[in-house]
Amino acid sequence: MICESENKLNPKFESLKIKGRCSLQGRIKISGAKNSALVLLAASLLTKDTVYLTNVPDLSDIRKMKNILKSIGVKIKDNDKEKVLINSENLHFGNIAHNSVNELRASFFCIGPLLSMLGKASLALPGGCNIGKRPIEEHLKGLKQLGATIEEKDGFVNARINSNKRRLKGTHIKLGCPSVGATETLIMAAVLAEGQTIISNAAREPEIQDLCEMLNKMGAKITRAGTSKVYIEGVNYLNGCSHEVIPDRIEAGTFLIAAAATLSCITVSPVIPSHLKSLLQKLKESGSDISIRDDAISIKTKTIKGVNIETAPFPGFPTDLQAPFTALMLKATGKSIIKETIFENRMNHIELLNKMGASIKLENNIATVSGVKKLYGRHLKGSDLRSTAAIVIAALMADNPSLVEGLEHLDRGYEDFEFKFKKLGANLKRGLTENISDISYNQDFFINDVQNSYAA
Ligand code: EPZ
Repeated sequence: MICESENKLNPKFESLKIKGRCSLQGRIKISGAKNSALVLLAASLLTKDTVYLTNVPDLSDIRKMKNILKSIGVKIKDNDKEKVLINSENLHFGNIAHNSVNELRASFFCIGPLLSMLGKASLALPGGCNIGKRPIEEHLKGLKQLGATIEEKDGFVNARINSNKRRLKGTHIKLGCPSVGATETLIMAAVLAEGQTIISNAAREPEIQDLCEMLNKMGAKITRAGTSKVYIEGVNYLNGCSHEVIPDRIEAGTFLIAAAATLSCITVSPVIPSHLKSLLQKLKESGSDISIRDDAISIKTKTIKGVNIETAPFPGFPTDLQAPFTALMLKATGKSIIKETIFENRMNHIELLNKMGASIKLENNIATVSGVKKLYGRHLKGSDLRSTAAIVIAALMADNPSLVEGLEHLDRGYEDFEFKFKKLGANLKRGLTENISDISYNQDFFINDVQNSYAA
């Protein structure tokens, strides 16, 4: 029996032990896109028939979304994790509670389908997260324009359709900002509305195009998806369908950046190259050789030159790759300026990268990176999904081993993350470590400890 007091003194945390000076080679399979699968699961509520999704990534966010759908009567069959059968014929009204929505913001996407199918919906207000306040006023404003009555009370959003037809009414919605989530929520609300809906200043992300492709397979009438002005002709009902989730452009981009950062040569597939245009442009600018063949992208890097990036809505440089790309710039020749324009607090990795010996000045979401010769392994804890990925990349570049905590963030968005890196030749080991960051320890002790553990 473990002594309770001992347990309290040394709580154990899952962490990745990462050997530095890594070189990667070979080919890895890219999983289905997290940010597409999440919204496609929500869209499956829009029919009483069965929807068959394939290439669904097995991630903690996806598992959370499935549990939320099951809590409101949806039947889900997913013996093979990648292949998911969803049937909503027994969909019933239910509060999607705080812990569900706070744990998974994407669950708020369900408000559109629930309104259309049940005439009412009640979801907890999604709070902010580590990267920003994440407001939803564009979602709510658009739903009101479609004829929903929205009440915010006791931390819940209660939406209902008051018209006796229990049907939303198409209209022209002008978004205040090209919000991905608001565009998706409003498309899903409009597909069963009466008449035409136009969404102007719509987000153009590939995940939105994937959503519209699936909805049209179900009988929706959506045109100009992927442009900033989307047209939706409301229909009376939608049928079931089979749909394959698009490859995850952010996972693919993360691995391409890791290969460049470790002066390696790898291939990632399947990918849709046009989804990664802005990243590939910046990787070439910084000195990587990129070759594209059908649904595969290969990268080979011998030198890294500092380049500037500024995040922007698609097709601009994706905010989800800003942190990983910052890691690439740490040992680049010359300076690089990294500007985050989408989220107000998405630079949590900067302080941690500086602890590893990087030279980054941060002011008003603009990071100025001066390339250094060496990075040092450290015991670090990531605070959000993409920042933690950036720290892993820096750890692969470092001269000595690192210990990276915060794997609960990585497991949200990267399927088999360390397995894929190991397949490319990296030396990573997931294990339990005492929370030594709470007690004073010297770097030598720590580094020996991590190095010894490789000896084992
Ligand atoms: C989606 O989040 C993605 N998540 C995010 O991926 C991604 O970073 C983001 O789009 C931008 O591309 C999913 O698809 C599940 P937004 P979303 O609404 O929809 C402001 C990851 O790492 N805004 O486009 O929440 C907002 O504050 C995650 O995989 C308003 O001001 O993003 C933010 O500054 C992180 N009012 C900006 O727009 C609103 O009503 C972009 O937000 C809505 C948004």
